[in-house]
Amino acid sequence: MDLGNYLLEKRAEINSAIEEYLDRYTISKRMLEPMKYSLTAGGKRLRPILCLAACEAVGGQTSNAVPVACALEMIHTYSLVHDDLPALDDDDMRRGTQTCHKRFGEAVAVLTGDALLNTAFELLADWSLENNMQTLPLEARVKVIQTVSRASGCRGMIEGQARDLEFEGHPLTLKDLEELHRLKTGEMISASVVTGALIGNGNKAQIERLKNYSKNIGLAFQVVDDILNVIGDPQILGKAVGTDSARQKNTYPALLGLQDAKRKATDLVERALENLKGFDEKADPLRAIALYIIERNH
Ligand code: IPE
Ligand code: IPE
Ligand code: MG
Ligand code: MG
Repeated sequence: MDLGNYLLEKRAEINSAIEEYLDRYTISKRMLEPMKYSLTAGGKRLRPILCLAACEAVGGQTSNAVPVACALEMIHTYSLVHDDLPALDDDDMRRGTQTCHKRFGEAVAVLTGDALLNTAFELLADWSLENNMQTLPLEARVKVIQTVSRASGCRGMIEGQARDLEFEGHPLTLKDLEELHRLKTGEMISASVVTGALIGNGNKAQIERLKNYSKNIGLAFQVVDDILNVIGDPQILGKAVGTDSARQKNTYPALLGLQDAKRKATDLVERALENLKGFDEKADPLRAIALYIIERNH
């Protein structure tokens, strides 16, 4: 399959929905402007695309998943806006442009993160009440919102971010580093896949296998993020490199060395692909995305 084209198509669909939601869910330029700035600066849209691709893999209609996909991207973008703040990673560049706090000041960046997070849940609630979603069992709709809230909360991404900061300068064991990465990045990636499968009304066995797929690519994704922080090109990445070692972050290359970190990412992607064996060609985008995660240069 032509993944390049698939990504372009899905990105365009997500981007136009995001523009529409930004207008719908704000009442003045005050918050619209910084929210739009950070959301439309040019992210890869991996999480929303995974949500659509998982919905497709179980035979669902991807248009039903678009609002949820956009909510996931809003939460992801909020996590980046806050991650870049001086109190956290203190970064000046993101998505090829100035970070939100560099452009609008810290107070507005804090509020922009808050706004993106809350808007995501407002959008999720509205989606669950839409007329055309009433054919999906109520339990599945609630489960979607539960999955997203749990992954982004203090049993997921926020706990991971807290550990990432707490353990700067304190080398972790491989096991603890893996747990940190799963929490910080893996949970949101996993939630993207699982929600897509729920919206596509996938059966229990399919959802279980997709969950395993997502856990493996979620960890692989952060391992590669660590590697790119060492060997990536800041122009292509759209963010600074070398920052993890400068801040003495716990990363796979720091703990294992570059070669073993790369091997780890490749192994994880292989394991992810094994979980897709029972799926037909509708899972080809998920297969291609798994490979893209280790081959990407941004
Ligand atoms: C970067 O995520 C932060 C991590 C959780 C590793 P992405 O690499 O998906 O960033 P964007 O959305 O493309 O900017
Ligand atoms: C970001 O992790 C994870 C979240 C925002 C949840 P990093 O701090 O490692 O990501 P980058 O390298 O700044 O994108
Ligand atoms: Mg960070
Ligand atoms: Mg960071």
